[in-house]
Amino acid sequence: MEYKKWDEVLAPYEHAVEELKVKFKNIRKEFLAKGEYSPIEFVTGRTKKIASIVSKVKRLNIQDIEAEMEDIAGIRIMCQFVEDIYTIVELIQTRSDMSIVYEKDYIENFKDSGYRSYHVIIKYPINSIAGSKEILCEIQIRTLAMNFWATIEHSLKYKYEHYIPENLAVRLRRAADAAFLLDQEMSEIREDIMKAQVMYRVKSITVRDVLNKIQELYNVGETHKAILFQRRLDKIDNERDITEIINLKKEIDGLLQQYKK
Ligand code: GTP
Ligand code: MG
Repeated sequence: MEYKKWDEVLAPYEHAVEELKVKFKNIRKEFLAKGEYSPIEFVTGRTKKIASIVSKVKRLNIQDIEAEMEDIAGIRIMCQFVEDIYTIVELIQTRSDMSIVYEKDYIENFKDSGYRSYHVIIKYPINSIAGSKEILCEIQIRTLAMNFWATIEHSLKYKYEHYIPENLAVRLRRAADAAFLLDQEMSEIREDIMKAQVMYRVKSITVRDVLNKIQELYNVGETHKAILFQRRLDKIDNERDITEIINLKKEIDGLLQQYKK
């Protein structure tokens, strides 16, 4: 392989990281713009430090870094809930602008250290003035709890130069279990949050229907009844239970049917 300066080698990876950050941040934007829940909380990205590349090349006896080193470009996607991770994986699978090389599920198969995350290695095409080429990129998808743990553990590894004392390693594994429990607890709350969101949507649609029907009553000349229904709706609009609103809707429906005959 011809000799290349580091800047030249790293440029396409930096380019890819910038593009991919924009793309994943935009997915979040799109969900929020639709008034929907976003499975992406936030996104970070980095290119591997030259020193880390060099030491990994030595450690793994790498001949061709572009073909063998998958994490020169790295994207990290943080989610609120474990379920969101799989939503994002499916999203990546269906995209036409990147292709999956392979996936590593360190959530089902967590590491001995206690590390949990979902890794997706992708091929991503980069266009530059030199033409187009495909590069490898590692996408790590994890919950906020998994990220908290990995960040702390990483800085400890750094402090102890990769050899974390056993008593500390035991504590870290315990902390990883606690983070796992936290994610499980949050998943159960997630169900409730989603149900509440659906209920809210059903309620606003029902209220809108009732308002339209009250307007119809005005249109057919039933001003007095329309006013009475409006007052009843105002009274029950603030209640959490929507059965009364549904009943009100049925009552007006019955009344309106008589006019349609
Ligand atoms: P490297 O670990 O990067 O040499 O490559 P690998 O082929 O072993 O891939 P692996 O999937 O094991 O790790 C890739 C990346 O995941 C690492 O660079 C870290 O960012 C992250 N990772 C893996 N294991 C751990 C861990 O035990 N603790 C932390 N904090 N991060 C980890
Ligand atoms: Mg490793």
